[in-house]
Amino acid sequence: MKKAALDWGKLSFSYMNTDYRYISHWKDGAWDSGKLVTENTLTISEGSTALHYGQQAFEGLKAYTRKDGRTQLFRPDRNAARMQSTADRLLMPRVSTEKFVDACDQVVKANWKYVPPYGTGATLYLRPFLIGVGDNIGVRAAPEYIFGVFCMPVGPYFKGGMTPVNFMVSTWDRAAPRGTGAAKVGGNYAGSLMPHEEAAHKGYADCIYLDPATHTKIEEVGAANFFGITKAGAFVTPLSPSILPSITKYSLLYVAGEYFKMKTEERDVFIDNLDEFAEAGACGTAAVITPIGGIFHNGKLHVFHSETEVGPVTKKLYDTLVGIQYGDVEAPEGWIHFVD
Ligand code: PLP
Ligand code: COI
Repeated sequence: MKKAALDWGKLSFSYMNTDYRYISHWKDGAWDSGKLVTENTLTISEGSTALHYGQQAFEGLKAYTRKDGRTQLFRPDRNAARMQSTADRLLMPRVSTEKFVDACDQVVKANWKYVPPYGTGATLYLRPFLIGVGDNIGVRAAPEYIFGVFCMPVGPYFKGGMTPVNFMVSTWDRAAPRGTGAAKVGGNYAGSLMPHEEAAHKGYADCIYLDPATHTKIEEVGAANFFGITKAGAFVTPLSPSILPSITKYSLLYVAGEYFKMKTEERDVFIDNLDEFAEAGACGTAAVITPIGGIFHNGKLHVFHSETEVGPVTKKLYDTLVGIQYGDVEAPEGWIHFVD
């Protein structure tokens, strides 16, 4: 089979209808065995809880082509585990890790021609989702569920990839202190659309949210976690029960500590103490590592390393993380899952 005739290096983070997606139904207490289908639409009851009460979850992970031509996934068991904890929070049935990873494998294999070749900088983005469906009207858990996985080749989420971008501190909250901030549910993102629009309108790539209880500490970016490199060289990232536990962030904590012997800290990051950082970045599956040029807050832009150049520590963390994801750098045990 030949790869699709796409300009891989010019892809952005945009929807593309690929050939196959996986779909599985839950009814009467059990999942069916699931199958690949070609249509990119779903027919569901008008009473589906996913439509009215936000009973839905999603995930995001990527497939990478290695130099030797094989295809691999980065830590798909971690995405499966996170979808399980989101399912618990929203009273949805769990999808087992085995079923989750098998669905991803099937979708990647069936859409092999869309997995970007090695060296193009593009990746195949997988979007698993879990939604409450079936006839219903009261506020309660759905009688039926759909688990699906679709995919598309993508380029950088933030324009410019490794070129720094600026963010703006939002006056809106992303999540409540004991709400669903740590779960990957659509409602968190619906509420972020308007703050994002405000930030984009003012020329910022996205907003930074502060903690919803005191508004003194950095939580995260709209679609990525935050990290900073202190002037003493420590890797620091916020610790909060209302941020999404980013798989990329935990991978970077490990890489910084084990590969570079840096001090690592998950702790409070006060918005009035940005001076402690020499460099800062946003990290996530879609964002990979995006260097933060500056953060706008209280009428002024706090610039970290530079608004145009990536800092040296951010660069070496990026090279190692991406090297692991493409199979060029040896991965810690269990981080890589081969598809073929
Ligand atoms: N925070 C938010 C709000 C996100 O949407 C994402 C994306 O998944 C992340 C952080 C990064 O998480 P991960 O590294 O697991 O992709
Ligand atoms: C991801 O990085 O996978 C995300 O889910 C971020 C965004 C596209 C919602």
